Amino acid sequence: MRTKEIRIFVYEYNTVSELPEKDQKLVLAAREAAKSAYAPYSKFYVGAALELDNGRIIKGNNQENAAFPTGLCAERVALFYANATYPDTAVKTVAVTAASHEGIVAGPVRPCGSCRQALAEAEVRFNQPVKIILDGMEKIQVFEGVDSLLPFAFKPESLD
Ligand code: THU
Repeated sequence: MRTKEIRIFVYEYNTVSELPEKDQKLVLAAREAAKSAYAPYSKFYVGAALELDNGRIIKGNNQENAAFPTGLCAERVALFYANATYPDTAVKTVAVTAASHEGIVAGPVRPCGSCRQALAEAEVRFNQPVKIILDGMEKIQVFEGVDSLLPFAFKPESLD
């Protein structure tokens, strides 16, 4: 038997204004996107903004459905749109936020497992890490790559 320790670095900020300028812009884009979420069932309005390698910012938000499982999370709406539109352009950074009727959550918001897995595929696809910014009014967390949020992810080699 062996015990292994996995170290995860989490960079924490109290407010958006403490982030580097580019990241601030991305968080504000995610907050903007959350305002257009279609979430009549959960009333949990999620926004995601991706910065691509070509400098473009792609926004997405959650899209719910009366048949609940048909809906899709904000992160995957943004990611799949980005990949469909710019199939050769890597995703550099993703910012995620969420709001309830009381405004942006205290946070940091937590991406679901499927979105973490989808982001892991973006790293595989473009062979570079995706920086992840999880927004909240009381705390913002930044991770250098998906491994920090989804260690032992299912990767192409898992298919061998
Ligand atoms: N949601 C997201 O958009 N992203 C996540 O990572 C977690 C959950 C959405 C799905 C659903 O519309 C609502 O939040 C409540 O689960």
